Amino acid sequence: MSAPLLQVSDLKVHYGHIEAVKGINFELREGQITTLVGANGAGKSTTLLALSGLVKKAAGRVVLDGQDLTKMSPHKIVSSGMVQVAEGRATLTTLTVQENLELGAYSRRDKGNRAADLDYVYGLFPVLKDRAGGLAGNLSGGEQQMLAIGRALMAKPRVLLLDEPSMGLAPIIVQDIFRTLRDINQAGLTIFLVEQNVRQALKISDRAYVLETGSIILEGTGRELLVNPRVQDAYLGS
Ligand SMILES: Nc1ncnc2c1ncn2[C@@H]1O[C@H](COP(=O)(O)OP(=O)(O)O)[C@@H](O)[C@H]1O
Ligand SMILES: [Mg+2]
Repeated sequence: MSAPLLQVSDLKVHYGHIEAVKGINFELREGQITTLVGANGAGKSTTLLALSGLVKKAAGRVVLDGQDLTKMSPHKIVSSGMVQVAEGRATLTTLTVQENLELGAYSRRDKGNRAADLDYVYGLFPVLKDRAGGLAGNLSGGEQQMLAIGRALMAKPRVLLLDEPSMGLAPIIVQDIFRTLRDINQAGLTIFLVEQNVRQALKISDRAYVLETGSIILEGTGRELLVNPRVQDAYLGS
């Protein structure tokens, strides 16, 4: 059994009078894919924003491998190794694909072997290599999602956070993206995925938590939750 890499305790986030996240506890184990699933408005994005330091926490603690990130600024959180894939696959459309990837490495203290990292990303997403010199704005939605993931990988994260990478993509592209997440994970990266696409997400998850109106109501392995009657009724249409 792998040790917890990230521990989140009693996390609360409020927007004015709205309690979007109501004191949740979860952990990410090293080398695993952990998923937070839930309906629209459940508080999934808010949870990720709180981890990344982009919304204020009303309470709680976030500890990455013994280091307390709770009060850190967003850029320090990134350089501590927790990197969120840009939302809405917000790539910089007027830069080339390769320039976008190179920007991903910008936050790294250790610049490492950038050429090898580029090769790794191009190996995962050969289509990006084919289009390396083209403008990111000319990529399809699926390719832009790949670029956003590739750019986050260039920061050499210890934990990769993704907010609904499947949103708005055709089913065949979604499968591609999820398969690639599995590959990245099998290469050793710890992943925290937030998804409304419950079936596909649970299929690739080692562990998962179900979030309903700001509270975690169930947890288990991906397989356990896929066959859980409550999950099936509420999220799997069966
Ligand atoms: N910036 C905001 N200001 C006020 N309320 C917000 C804001 N962002 C989200 N909310 C509310 O917080 C709750 C959780 O939203 P969100 O985290 O976006 O859920 P999810 O990502 O699961 O769809 C919802 O009720 C939403 O309307
Ligand atoms: Mg959301």
